[in-house]
Formats: sequence, structure tokens, C-alpha cells
Amino acid sequence: MTGIHFSPGMRGVEAYPFEDLDRRVAAAREQGRTPIDFGVGDPREETPLFIRDALVSAIEPTSSYPRAAGLPELRVAIAGWVARRFGASVDPDAEIQPTLGSKEIVFSLAQLLLDPAAGKDLVLATAPGYPIPERGARFAGGDVVRLALTEERGFLPELDTVGDDTWARASILWLNYPNNPTGAVAPLTFLEEAAARCRTHGVLLASDEAYSELWFGGVPPPGVLQIADRTNVLAINTLSKRSSMTGYRSGFVAGDPGVIASLRRLRPASGVTPQTFVQRASVAAWEDEAHVQDTRARYAAKRRVLLDVFARHGVRVAGSEATFYLWVAVPGDRSSLEWALELLEHDLVVAPGSFFGPEGEGFVRMAMVPTQDRCERAAEVLDGVLAEVHA
Ligand SMILES: Cc1ncc(COP(=O)(O)O)c(C=O)c1O
Repeated sequence: MTGIHFSPGMRGVEAYPFEDLDRRVAAAREQGRTPIDFGVGDPREETPLFIRDALVSAIEPTSSYPRAAGLPELRVAIAGWVARRFGASVDPDAEIQPTLGSKEIVFSLAQLLLDPAAGKDLVLATAPGYPIPERGARFAGGDVVRLALTEERGFLPELDTVGDDTWARASILWLNYPNNPTGAVAPLTFLEEAAARCRTHGVLLASDEAYSELWFGGVPPPGVLQIADRTNVLAINTLSKRSSMTGYRSGFVAGDPGVIASLRRLRPASGVTPQTFVQRASVAAWEDEAHVQDTRARYAAKRRVLLDVFARHGVRVAGSEATFYLWVAVPGDRSSLEWALELLEHDLVVAPGSFFGPEGEGFVRMAMVPTQDRCERAAEVLDGVLAEVHA
């Protein structure tokens, strides 16, 4: 390759922090070790059989390009789920757009809205956080204002601290509740307040609700589609975690019809609609709730085992009300990376909080994705390691 000039967006792309950890885990495997991987949030649960069957029976002899708007029956199935789950009525034609999983839309939404030349050059995103809103904003030529999540404030950002000049330059406020990595849940009143502020300032509230179905208390977490006035509001959701379908790539964005209409104009150019057979399997997934209850029960069982071992050793687990993540305080005065590397020596893989931004220092994130057996084995290992740490 000679003389090729890369765009400023591309030049700003940084390595994913997990890459180095992945290399270390691969090296451990090459030595014949079998690390238990709580690092990346990729469920090891089986995709329910009826969903796999729906996929197989949807494969046809001939194949056609999927339409960018997605199958009407998928949009109807999503609207039905939204009505049952959030008690909200959403028009399947005007207010729902199927997406290829949810990461692509989290990344690309900034391209729809940022306009640095016109003074709209900022995206507001919570930190520590899922890195994609920030990466998407930077790729689109914008800058990011990080709104710190602290344990003292229940991992909710202080919207009061955002000045009018920042609001004036902002295009999107990203929220992600239930939250990755902290596992915190936001009350509906907070989501309503955020939506009202966004409307006042002509900003889009984008609510990434990828973990909305993984909850453990008596009450499911609220979502922004419950807000009475959905002007400037979008919800993003996915089957990845709810239905253990990360490999299928199926999600949706729903909300303000003006923004959905713009997405409909843009998306035929990028070819990011899920395959038709995936969309048909997705209809089956959204229409069933029994498998989601089973999934929650499985995560609840793993969570109990891990919370027990931390409680026995007086290790603080903050947030962690929902999602399949535990946000676990680092013992002593080590950094989160040092603690993660120490645990790797014991064949336990966790993500250092600093991977999610400097605001995540002091914690490690454990994705409860290994099987129950492996979680029980991990709890035994942790029992020994923590006994030594506190000795
Ligand atoms: C907060 C958050 N949003 C979105 C996603 C993307 O999920 P998918 O693209 O599989 O729907 C993830 C994946 O880990 C996530 O943690």
C-alpha cells in the first residue's frame, strides 16, 4: 500500500482495549490452561432451539436482498413486544427500524446528526461506558463530553453540570441503562428528565437498552419508550443478550418518527439489514417470553454463587442490579489492570474497569457468561485468592 491517504476518522481509530487481554488469554490457552472467561460479554448460553429451528426453516431455495426497512412482520413482532414489555404503543411502520444487532446503529447514529461545521460537534456519553458511542462520534468528526458515573450518585450522570454552551453544541445524549459496565438501573423519572432536557436543547436522547431484559429484582427496568412525549427520543434494543443471539445480529431502533424516517432514507445505501432468515428467527424470539425468563433464572443462579463469595470476603460489589455484569471493587491499592492480571494468573479473566475509561478505575467487570459449572469453579478459585489477599 503506497500513497493511500486515510480519513481523519480512520486515523483516530484506536485499538480495542480488549485486544491485549485477548492475546494474553490466547497465550494461556496455548500453554494448555483453560481460563474461565468473564471478560467479554458474549453469552455462552445456547440460543433456544425453537429460534434455531425458525432460522433453519426460513432458509429458502432462492435468496433476495433484504429490504432496508426490514420485514413488516418483524416490525409488528417488535411493536407487540414493546407493547407487552413497556405498555407503549409504537407504530411498526413509522417508529421501528430493524438493525444488524445494535452495535452498528450505536456507532453510526452520530453520522446522521453531527455537523461540526454548523457548530453541532459534540456527543454526550456516560463514562465508564461501552466505547462505541464515543468511537462513533469521533469517526463522524465530533468530540465527546464524558459524563462521569459515580457510585455515590447511583451511577447516574449529573445532567445539571452540563452547561448551556455544551447543550448548544451537542447532537446526541447517550444513555445506557441497565448500564454496561456498572449494572446500574435508571429510574423512569431520570429518563423523563433527560428526555425533557434533550427536547429543550434540540438534542437526540439515544437510549441503549441492550440489557433491559437481564434483571433480578421484582420489577423490570424502565425504558424510554415509556415516556409520554417521545419527541427526540430513540430506544435501541437487541436480541443478543435477551435471547443469547449475539451471532445472529438482530436488533432494532424505535422512537421519534422523524429520525426513523431519516434512517430509512440513509440505510439502503449501507446494506445493514439482517438477513431475511435471521429476521424470521427474530420474529419467533420477540414473540416468546418463556425463554427469557429461563435465561434470567440462569444468570440469577450464577450471580448468587459469585455474590456469595464476594460477600464472604467483604469485597464490595457496586451497582450490578441488572445486566449480566458484576462491577467488583479492586481489593487493596492495586490498579484494576494489575488485579485483572493477577486473576489471570489464576486462570480467571475479568475486564479491568480502566478499559471503560479512567472513570472505571477501582473496579473490574465480570461478565457472568461462563456456564454455571464454570462459575462455580471460578467461585472456588476466588475463595482461595481472596483469602490470600486478605490474609
Ligand atoms: C451497552 C451495549 N450496547 C450494545 C451492545 C451491542 O450488542 P449487539 O450489537 O450484539 O446488539 C453491547 C454489546 O456488548 C453493549 O454492551
